Amino acid sequence: MIYLTRRERFNAAHKLYKEEWSEEENLAFFGGCANPNWHGHNYELFVTVKGEINPETGFVVDLKKLSKLINDKIIAKVDHKNLNLDVPFLQGMIASTENLAVAVWNELEKDIAELGAQLHCIEIKETENNTVKYYGQNP
Ligand code: NI
Repeated sequence: MIYLTRRERFNAAHKLYKEEWSEEENLAFFGGCANPNWHGHNYELFVTVKGEINPETGFVVDLKKLSKLINDKIIAKVDHKNLNLDVPFLQGMIASTENLAVAVWNELEKDIAELGAQLHCIEIKETENNTVKYYGQNP
């Protein structure tokens, strides 16, 4: 088994808040992340897949195809967007990096299997100090 990671980047706005809480409650819990007029991040998304090396190509997966898949299904929908308002696969969720990582996993898992590899980890770096990794429901 060998592991391969592709990095993609995107910029997006969001805020962390719960609709059912008042602005004061949201600011008390989420701090500046609940700023009513949004804030943004330069996110880095790392998609790690695993599989066996195809002896004919030397690849686990064709990186051009993996990159195109990530760009078509994720980056095109989140880059320069508002994660709370604009992204179909985040509707109804708190726009946290944790929820984003699980949603990205769910969007990509089947398509990566169709490329002949298995999704291993979705890692999203929100800031220099904050990174989330998701290994699926049954790691
Ligand atoms: Ni934030």
